[in-house]
Amino acid sequence: MLAATLPWGNGCRRSRRASDEARGTDVDSSQIATVDELLTTTRSVRRRLDLERPVPDEVVVDCLRLALQAPTGGNAQNWRWLVVRDPATRQGLAELYRRAGGLAIIEAAQRVAGSGRVGDRVTASAAHLAGNLEHVPVLVVPCMLGRHPADYNGPGMWDSILPAIWSFQLALRSRGLGSCYTTVHRRREREAAALLGIPYDDVTQVALLPVAWTTGRGFGPAPRRPLEDVMAFDRWDEHLTERVPWH
Ligand SMILES: Cc1cc2nc3c(=O)[nH]c(=O)nc-3n(C[C@H](O)[C@H](O)[C@H](O)COP(=O)(O)O)c2cc1C
Repeated sequence: MLAATLPWGNGCRRSRRASDEARGTDVDSSQIATVDELLTTTRSVRRRLDLERPVPDEVVVDCLRLALQAPTGGNAQNWRWLVVRDPATRQGLAELYRRAGGLAIIEAAQRVAGSGRVGDRVTASAAHLAGNLEHVPVLVVPCMLGRHPADYNGPGMWDSILPAIWSFQLALRSRGLGSCYTTVHRRREREAAALLGIPYDDVTQVALLPVAWTTGRGFGPAPRRPLEDVMAFDRWDEHLTERVPWH
């Protein structure tokens, strides 16, 4: 569960002060701290998924109920959520995941083992997941009704389910569970549809989320490209550092 004290570095403390000054008077600062911690420490969990501890259905259902509060284009709510617990089905999905690209990730991880580079550590972590997917107690497959035509450029499909998927992952994290957004299995989506009884022509599988309790101590913020490199005020070429006095 989330701790009240925050394991943040200086950068985050600076931005906390700035938001303290900017926030409305009716907002409880301890709630802000809790939500900020949730938002900065919800990671892709692969190695630290507890493969032994069962996940009660109620926890997944609670988190999905929260996820359904997320927005969809036109409030269409054109989603379906498949929660896979059955061991044989998980085994089938894991083997499919490896055929779809997981084996290539495992081989890539072996090639770059020990380099210490950030990208290679992600590959090693992804390989660990690919090699153990059948042991993850719950695999959630978020789906959208319909299929994107090749020239589709409107709202309401992929973009309509991504906010809910992230809400689901946040809700899991706040309860002490972890997950990871994965897409590898979609390269074999038709096979997965057959395995899961999903009508492929009418339903698109968006992702596959392994869900488990997490092991070890808490999670921290990830290194990211600095905000100054990726944000501008008002105009594309307006640089953040030139405009923000609290930076
Ligand atoms: C659209 C998308 C697709 C992803 N696909 C995979 C995947 O197939 N396998 C995997 O292990 N991680 C996958 N990830 C997780 C990313 O690798 C991860 O979010 C990124 O390395 C940053 O790590 P963090 O989430 O812990 O901050 C995906 C994430 C997103 C948003």
